[in-house]
Amino acid sequence: MCRPTYFTVSYEINPWMHPSVPTDTAKAVAQWQELYDTYVRLGHRIELIDPLEGLPDMVYAANGALVSDGVVYTAKFTYPERMAEGPAYAEWFAERGYRVHTAAETNEGEGDILTVGDLVLAGTGFRTSTAAHKELQEVIGKPVISLTLVDPRFYHLDTALMVLSDTEIAYYPAAFSDGSRRVLERLFPDAVIATEDDAVVLGLNGVSDGRHVIHNPRATHLAAALAERGFEPIGIDTSELLKGGGGAKCCTLELRAAVDAAEVPSAPVAVPQAV
Ligand code: ARG
Repeated sequence: MCRPTYFTVSYEINPWMHPSVPTDTAKAVAQWQELYDTYVRLGHRIELIDPLEGLPDMVYAANGALVSDGVVYTAKFTYPERMAEGPAYAEWFAERGYRVHTAAETNEGEGDILTVGDLVLAGTGFRTSTAAHKELQEVIGKPVISLTLVDPRFYHLDTALMVLSDTEIAYYPAAFSDGSRRVLERLFPDAVIATEDDAVVLGLNGVSDGRHVIHNPRATHLAAALAERGFEPIGIDTSELLKGGGGAKCCTLELRAAVDAAEVPSAPVAVPQAV
């Protein structure tokens, strides 16, 4: 995770961002801290990357890379405003002994690349290129399924689809092309289908550990559907970070360790700074 020390909305690269609407950085930090504290309370280990001045979107750590079995596929951002984040995250991983594969193709990490068990779902249409999907498949040796996003409000896959467990997902069908929708129906016939009300508050931008699901508390239908499935929904208000077009998932990059324990990178745990 990356503390939103320099968070603001100073440019516009998605329909959620309005530089004319003021942002409250202290509030963003407090909301982020609550997310952080919740993960810790649930027993998760969090590592931190230092925020860099001039990169206000760096808080959205999910975009920093994709980590699969300890292998890092670096991000290569679409817009010049975020370009410098790719090398910053790549350096963090390299310093900690991860095997880093530098992407040649445009991709925005876990924003568009989601792992469901041994399958990888990859979004395209707004940011990540299909060439990156092919490149990624060669790098990690797992099947990469391309899904086309069609609604600019849901510009990253993680705004339209949430992974719940190694076999379960939730998604908002209208965010996808016809063909991609059919692919999702075929692969996940039992998926939780989110309503438009859930989707337009970025309710799908949540994080599941297989049991607890951290989500926008305004996504009430989704929370009820998840509870019915036996998950424990936990609402965390990240409304300030929504002004940049992100929620809990965007702020979280999963460090998927190597399957072979010998390859697990020995990363020191970063000590959280006081807010
Ligand atoms: N302002 C950022 C952008 O448009 C938000 C990124 C949100 N991250 C995510 N994983 N969806 O790039």
